[in-house]
Amino acid sequence: MSKTTFSIIKADVGGYPGHATVHGELMEVAEKKLSASNDLINYHVTHCGDDLELLMTHKEGEDSEKIHSLAWETFQEATEKARELGLYGAGQDLLSDAFSGNVRGMGPGIAEMEFTERKAEPVVAFLMDKTEPGAFNYPLFKIFADPFNTAGLVIDPSLHAGFRFEIMDIKRDKTIMMNAPEEIYDILALLGAKGRFVINKVYPKEGSKLPSDEPVAAVSTEKLYQIAGEYVGKDDPVAIVRAQSGLPALGEVLEPFSHPFLVSGWMRGSHNGPIMPVSQKDAKCTRFDGPPRVLCLGTQVKDGKFDEPADLFDDPAFDMVREKSADIAEYMRRHGPFEPHRLPMEEMEYTTLPEVMNELEDRFQ
Ligand code: F6R
Ligand code: MG
Ligand code: MG
Repeated sequence: MSKTTFSIIKADVGGYPGHATVHGELMEVAEKKLSASNDLINYHVTHCGDDLELLMTHKEGEDSEKIHSLAWETFQEATEKARELGLYGAGQDLLSDAFSGNVRGMGPGIAEMEFTERKAEPVVAFLMDKTEPGAFNYPLFKIFADPFNTAGLVIDPSLHAGFRFEIMDIKRDKTIMMNAPEEIYDILALLGAKGRFVINKVYPKEGSKLPSDEPVAAVSTEKLYQIAGEYVGKDDPVAIVRAQSGLPALGEVLEPFSHPFLVSGWMRGSHNGPIMPVSQKDAKCTRFDGPPRVLCLGTQVKDGKFDEPADLFDDPAFDMVREKSADIAEYMRRHGPFEPHRLPMEEMEYTTLPEVMNELEDRFQ
């Protein structure tokens, strides 16, 4: 059987209200557009916060012109609807008027992977709002390299060899492939600097039950402010993770989200705050435009087809995390404009500091 590609392509093409969520009519536009395509096997349209998310399966491979142009046209049509309805920031993530065959570098976020389906193929989509791609460093490291998270790394012979991480230096646009567990200290030296080094993909090792050249996890690594050369909106990342039989179990994939770790983004893309794992119903950003949210949709892919995804954080097992996240959000907020709630000067996506400094320059003695 030929390989299957799972693609998530997403963009903020207008918020309702402000940057909180996506208007139902934009999702209807996307549903209509994707249902009319002959190139998709299946799709699911949803949103996390103000991001319109297209989950798609097909046989066209990664970076397919057909699939990327379908997504691009969908976002354009949704932008027209957003303008008509007077939604906030209509078309904000579509940075170019001319589509040249691939949406990479044009504003939308993309996580894609092409793989040979196993007998049963569990696939999990993580959708985040109000944060950056480096927000996936902590959970993906835990899933694929931390034995305190993933019991299988210790007790399942099929995972015991570990995994390979493809890490991107987003400032220099270079990637490096690193091996876990052999190089975990060096891997963490990079991944801890999550504003600069970002996990792009995870691969099995040679000799694993799975082909070592087919990814088992993929993250969207587009950084909007670097693409546009200035701040135009948060990049709000997405990721795809495959699970079970030779890979971390579904529960091991969800386990890192039992800790509401700190990420940067939140209000004006300029604050640190806790991630909050939420159900689809709560995938909207409210308090101080946040706190940053992560939604998790899981499904089984068979011959490229998949059913209505399960809403995996819609579960009392994560209530405690949400409460803790709300407590941390409150604690962080009390710092107001002070770091480390506010991001360091060079990482803020909005800043008046150069102007303030300019104005005050003469008064410094
Ligand atoms: C963060 C985000 C929001 C906006 C904020 C100000 O990623 O989207 O927090 O930055 O609401 O938005 P504008 O400048 O559009 O008024
Ligand atoms: Mg927005
Ligand atoms: Mg967003």
